[in-house]
Amino acid sequence: EKGGYDYFMLKEIAEQPKAVADTLLGRIDEAGRLALDEVHIPDHVLREVNKVVIVACGTAYHAGMIAKYAIEHWTRVPCETELASEFRYRDPILDQRTLVIAISQSGETMDTLMALRHAREQGAKVLAICNTNGSTIPRESDAVLYTHAGPEVAVASTKAFLTQLVACYLVALYLGQVRGTKWGDEIGSVIRELSQIATEVDKVLGTMEPVRELARSLADKNTVLFLGRHVGFPVALEGALKLKELAYMHAEGFAAGELKHGPIALIEDDLPVVVVVPSPRGRSVLHDKIVSNIQEIRARGARTIVIAEEGDDTVVPYADHLVRIPATPTLLQPLVATVPLQVFACELATARGNEVDQPRNLAKSVTVE
Ligand code: M6R
Repeated sequence: EKGGYDYFMLKEIAEQPKAVADTLLGRIDEAGRLALDEVHIPDHVLREVNKVVIVACGTAYHAGMIAKYAIEHWTRVPCETELASEFRYRDPILDQRTLVIAISQSGETMDTLMALRHAREQGAKVLAICNTNGSTIPRESDAVLYTHAGPEVAVASTKAFLTQLVACYLVALYLGQVRGTKWGDEIGSVIRELSQIATEVDKVLGTMEPVRELARSLADKNTVLFLGRHVGFPVALEGALKLKELAYMHAEGFAAGELKHGPIALIEDDLPVVVVVPSPRGRSVLHDKIVSNIQEIRARGARTIVIAEEGDDTVVPYADHLVRIPATPTLLQPLVATVPLQVFACELATARGNEVDQPRNLAKSVTVE
């Protein structure tokens, strides 16, 4: 059932273009508008929403962090993303106009379930983004948008993450559509790019051999750091989480802007640092800032592993290893930038002789608090 792959994780990484395409299927109509009738929250309720709160754990939380950038940019509705395990205990401010989005692959994560129960008790509407039909989280929510990743067996979440991102983008765009905010050229072109994105994910998968080779060469390292800005920051966190759970290595993700506030002290000779570089088009400020971050860490001896868009030549002089990803709008970049990080962690785990599909101490779904 591993379909010729050594591990479920490899199979699931390879299934990502299909998972992404399946999650989009039937949800964008011929006129290029979102058709999400399955979200049974009436438009007038969505128009009244004055705050979005996303709750999730682990990888799903990283998807939620990325969703915050998309929701606020496309809808201008304030959005916060919080670890489900922290949410309930700080007495959060919620009411009928709050839309809570609970993201969960399994639909059985206890922390997320408890968070949504708390939200509903306060009168908030809860929309679940879930991969498992009929599981507890969607059953207890007001509405559900299913991701169509198919069953995910490996403990490390990969295809579910990409489809959670797609679902989050769809919800963000849909909110924009219903509320009429920023519904212009930008949104139209994002929808067009989104409908092509599975092909781009597939392209990335076709270029991963150098990443595998690089991972094998780092098998003896103790630490790998990950840096990103904007949506690249949660991608960095996700890259670090994958490496922790699979390779049992010390891995940390930082917002690149935080370097000078502490983490730069960690940089030493030959320390591998993965940097996710935003597109130089569009928000070029972000791009230029991260290029100077790469220069700074390299000047202190870091071995830089740079993930950058095709055609972005400014990074070439500062990259010890360069991983190319296709050009995408900034907000969609996580869909392509995460893939090399998954492959990297999987290969490192293999090189270190770890059990890829069943990492030590972990369960696929965490049904206790
Ligand atoms: O089933 P869920 O999406 O609610 O699970 C949340 C986390 O437990 C999960 O994403 C976990 O972090 C993964 N093992 C990460 O690869």
